Amino acid sequence: MSSLEKSIIADPALAPEGHLKIDWASAHMPVLNKIKEQFEKEQPFKGLKVSISLHLEAKTAYLAKVVQAGGADVTITGSNPLSTQDDVCAALVEDGITVFAKYNPEPEEFKALNIKALESKPDLIIDDGGDLVTLLHSECRELGVNLRGGAEETTTGIIRLKALEKEGSLSFPMVAVNDAYCKYLFDNRYGTGQSVFDGINRTTNLVVAGKTVVVVGYGWCGKGVAMRAKGLGATVIVTEIDAIKAVEAYMDGFAVMPMQEAAKLGDMFVTVTGNRDVIRGEHYKVMKDGAILSNAGHFDVEVNKVELEAMSTGKRTVRRNIEEYKMEDGRNIYLLAEGRLVNLAAGDGHPAEIMDMTFALQALSLKYVNDEFQSIGSKVVNVPYELDEKVARLKLESLGFGIDKLSPEQIAYLDSWTEH
Ligand SMILES: NC(=O)c1ccc[n+]([C@@H]2O[C@H](COP(=O)([O-])OP(=O)(O)OC[C@H]3O[C@@H](n4cnc5c(N)ncnc54)[C@H](O)[C@@H]3O)[C@@H](O)[C@H]2O)c1
Repeated sequence: MSSLEKSIIADPALAPEGHLKIDWASAHMPVLNKIKEQFEKEQPFKGLKVSISLHLEAKTAYLAKVVQAGGADVTITGSNPLSTQDDVCAALVEDGITVFAKYNPEPEEFKALNIKALESKPDLIIDDGGDLVTLLHSECRELGVNLRGGAEETTTGIIRLKALEKEGSLSFPMVAVNDAYCKYLFDNRYGTGQSVFDGINRTTNLVVAGKTVVVVGYGWCGKGVAMRAKGLGATVIVTEIDAIKAVEAYMDGFAVMPMQEAAKLGDMFVTVTGNRDVIRGEHYKVMKDGAILSNAGHFDVEVNKVELEAMSTGKRTVRRNIEEYKMEDGRNIYLLAEGRLVNLAAGDGHPAEIMDMTFALQALSLKYVNDEFQSIGSKVVNVPYELDEKVARLKLESLGFGIDKLSPEQIAYLDSWTEH
């Protein structure tokens, strides 16, 4: 059967636009290009089936092609109903990849498409947020019979994996790609920082300068969002539950206060905690008229939509990806992209140069888990430091600048406890 016959996508005729998008992204992903060359020669995945669940846009599509270049039979599905781009899906199908994804399917259809992506009984998986892993540990156990292991993309997925591991239920090795330096230092911080405002700005077409932006959560993503909000001229307030992160935000020059106080002051809110209900009923009560809420955390649980809906007298779409909630006292509260990650559901996600490093780590981690799955066992493991460093070195090389080397004397000095 051809990949078109096997796939479920919105419209194969959209392929030309998708190819252009993938070509643009890949031209800005020099590290992944190098890994593609390596994979073409070494064929690390020859004869293996790989199933991928990621935000299905152009950079992801290029990662799928790199894995395919390594000899794999690749199947891909979306990790969020609103981040799938139909033209990119059509292009991948033309390139011989099986795709089960459409933009904005109903929740049941979204899950059915994820399950379809496992029906090939993959040897390896790439997951984002833990949806494939969850299926393989619940209703789709039988589809995991060939599984050697996989790699997980994001903070939220790793939290779920560690919970499975702690319970003793994890049944194959998973590499925590998010926890590599070349992932969270750049992707979570600079990638999320820039792309969140790309999403908010193109969606609202409003100015950020002069507004008060409340950043909920000062982890790696939150630091990036706060930094870019400040750069755009906003007054930034950070809310946290962790005392150390709160002091860090204060030292970085931001106001820190509980959400109940920040709720009264914010013009724009961005949640990035990986936690649920961080903005909820008691906060909606005191918000300004016109407050704009958005989320950049993995799941659409950070802004409590059920309470917002219950407290409002009506809702309407006022612009693509903007819902207006009319409150009983006449105030309007706006929610972007249904509370799903605003940078992907209402934008194109992180810049290509950032995803270059993240997806280089994904590709190398997939090879690592395939080579070492027997010795790793059913555990969550970090990306080996050598791979993390290799990605940084390739990035430097592609940027055309070098760094210094330690002299033998310096190595001896750093290894010694007697020299000073
Ligand atoms: N939008 C994207 O493109 C993108 C990219 C990477 C990660 N993510 C997702 O973003 C989320 C955050 O990731 P991260 O890497 O920054 O995680 P992190 O663990 O580094 O940071 C999360 C922060 O939120 C804080 N927090 C938790 N509950 C809170 C609450 N009730 N109020 C205020 N702060 C609270 C924590 O103390 C922590 O400092 C995750 O869901 C992750 O999967 C999204």
